[in-house]
Amino acid sequence: MSAEVIDGKAFAEKIREQVGENTAEFIAQGGVQPGLAVVLVGNDPASEVYVANKNKQAEAVGFYSVAHYLPEDTTQDALMAQVEALNADPRIHGILVQLPLPSHLDSDAVLNAIDPDKDVDGFHPVNIGRLWSGQSAPVPCTPLGCSLLLKERLGDLAGKKAIIIGRSNIVGKPMAALLLAANATVTIAHSKTPDLPGLCREADIVVAAVGRAEMVQGDWIKPGAIVLDVGINRIERDGKKKLVGDVDFASASAIAGAITPVPGGIGPMTIACLLRNTLTCAKTIDNRLNT
Ligand code: GUN
Repeated sequence: MSAEVIDGKAFAEKIREQVGENTAEFIAQGGVQPGLAVVLVGNDPASEVYVANKNKQAEAVGFYSVAHYLPEDTTQDALMAQVEALNADPRIHGILVQLPLPSHLDSDAVLNAIDPDKDVDGFHPVNIGRLWSGQSAPVPCTPLGCSLLLKERLGDLAGKKAIIIGRSNIVGKPMAALLLAANATVTIAHSKTPDLPGLCREADIVVAAVGRAEMVQGDWIKPGAIVLDVGINRIERDGKKKLVGDVDFASASAIAGAITPVPGGIGPMTIACLLRNTLTCAKTIDNRLNT
């Protein structure tokens, strides 16, 4: 293996420490205590662990933090009422509705109902528009983490060629907006893109967010490129359950300059960026109320 393996846990810890320090400073200067609310519908065990982690980490950086656990058969009206109550709650500056929602619920209607200024996921169409037009906005947490990591590693991204594999609203599209804003040359590839390996081999930066276990192979990677693996896929190998990314780590790490592992790469940065976004939203709302 030649690639440096990027320690996402350590990077996430650094972001959390900064958020903790900035929160203490903000409160000491008379700012409001930032408040984060997470809404989880149903009882998917993985989501429950994730939500408990969000709560724990939010409290650790000095936030007010609440989780609302709603039953699987929650109606659209009840969920909308919950969102409206959080929009109106002055203790809350960030609202996250855990996705995916059960299939009987209309996710778009729920995301559209969140006050854009409390939209810590950056999924509201107003914030998507703000991001693409260069206005300040909460940015979806996973691409934000990727972008912070790239800037720390590479500094100026001008002149870099980036490929994003996957075009989701949660990762691929906002990642493209962030890389464009940083003056990288960006390709968004997807399942219908011809010669994906050839395109990928031209890229200095590879962001794999396609949701297909170990799809990106070592011979797709330009020697020395930085590879960010956003995928989290549960597979079974040799009779054992295993978490793997969208990149074939064994072959890609022989060619890349630096690579994020799964687990322990991009994953831990998502919650850290959620905390960062919550503080930013609290500052924006506090500022609006006091001017
Ligand atoms: N489910 C998986 N990732 C995310 C995320 O970043 N935000 C929300 N709301 N749900 C998710």
